[in-house]
Amino acid sequence: VLNLRVDLKKEVDDSYDILIGNGFIAEKIAGYRDKGALFLVDSNVMRLYPSFFKDIDCFVMETSENAKDMESLIEIMSYIKEKGARRDAELVVVGGGITGDVGGFAASAYMRGIKFIQIPTTLLSMVDSSVGGKVAVNFGGAKNNVGAFYQPETVLIDMDFLNTLTDEEYLNGFAEVVKYAFIFDEEFLEYLVDNKEKIIARDMDILSSIVHKCCSIKADVVRQDEKEDGIRKLLNFGHTIGHGIESDSEFGVKHGMAVATGMYIETVIAFKLGHADEKTVSRVEEVLELFGYDKEYNIKNKEVFAAALGADKKASKSGITLALTPKIGTGKIISDIPLKELENLLF
Ligand SMILES: NC(=O)c1ccc[n+]([C@@H]2O[C@H](COP(=O)([O-])OP(=O)(O)OC[C@H]3O[C@@H](n4cnc5c(N)ncnc54)[C@H](O)[C@@H]3O)[C@@H](O)[C@H]2O)c1
Ligand SMILES: [Zn+2]
Repeated sequence: VLNLRVDLKKEVDDSYDILIGNGFIAEKIAGYRDKGALFLVDSNVMRLYPSFFKDIDCFVMETSENAKDMESLIEIMSYIKEKGARRDAELVVVGGGITGDVGGFAASAYMRGIKFIQIPTTLLSMVDSSVGGKVAVNFGGAKNNVGAFYQPETVLIDMDFLNTLTDEEYLNGFAEVVKYAFIFDEEFLEYLVDNKEKIIARDMDILSSIVHKCCSIKADVVRQDEKEDGIRKLLNFGHTIGHGIESDSEFGVKHGMAVATGMYIETVIAFKLGHADEKTVSRVEEVLELFGYDKEYNIKNKEVFAAALGADKKASKSGITLALTPKIGTGKIISDIPLKELENLLF
């Protein structure tokens, strides 16, 4: 037997910058236009900020969790191809997490990868989805199960986009902010609680510091564990149950809202499994209530819900992996929880 080794120990530098500011994006967009970049733009962003895209031929995407699918991926790729893109093409994605996830996946796959630039326009995408290189679509009813790790060239965050978000979308994104605080930083959680009124009023100074904080936490986690073999799994706090809620509600419950409820239910599970104390459960409950998230969710179809847990990317043959918060500010991974055991706790 001959053994030929394909030695692929790589030294790749995928580093990139995240710029955070106010009122600088029009100029950046014009710069990419002048370089001949391609644009994928969320339809609401196009409607609200038409002047940014004057004279630019854009692919405009209507977003909904149901549109985060193969069909959209194919449409975007067809557009890229139609425009005669070559390997050196650049795709600028302007929108929330849905546009970013699908657009980034299209960029990762087209000609095995063209450059892409993330311009997140929702709170959720600014603090979470635009950073870290996870790109994906939903497939066969499961969340984000077809995708890639593909880092953007740069992330440009213009805080002014937040002014036009609906209250619901704003709160939806804020759930991921609370998530970082629960897992990593009790002081940050207290800061959020103390500044509740300003946060609700979208005070720009507070918001800038929040976005900056979340991006630096995420960048730090991704630097240590780009492919989610370890610490990055902690960012899934609330997401296993959250994905169950998203699937069971046929995406009627938005991602952030589902994650918020998921964080509470998972903390109760942690308590029942002996990983969290009562104090933590009540703190999670208090904070979620303070900002107006639902703690409870009525499961419509147990099979659909359980299937979503089992199909979760974090699940393995030996069971479900949960990212839990035993104590505020200290996340912990618990692996191999039998699906049956979880079902018994839930249903
Ligand atoms: N890749 C990751 O690491 C990661 C992390 C977290 C979440 N996600 C994914 O992100 C998705 C959710 O992202 P989202 O909440 O941004 O959803 P989204 O992209 O659907 O945006 C939410 C809504 O806001 C609108 N919108 C966007 N920008 C706006 C603006 N500036 N003003 C007014 N309206 C605006 C959109 O048109 C849409 O209706 C989920 O699919 C989730 O799975 C991915
Ligand atoms: Zn999330």
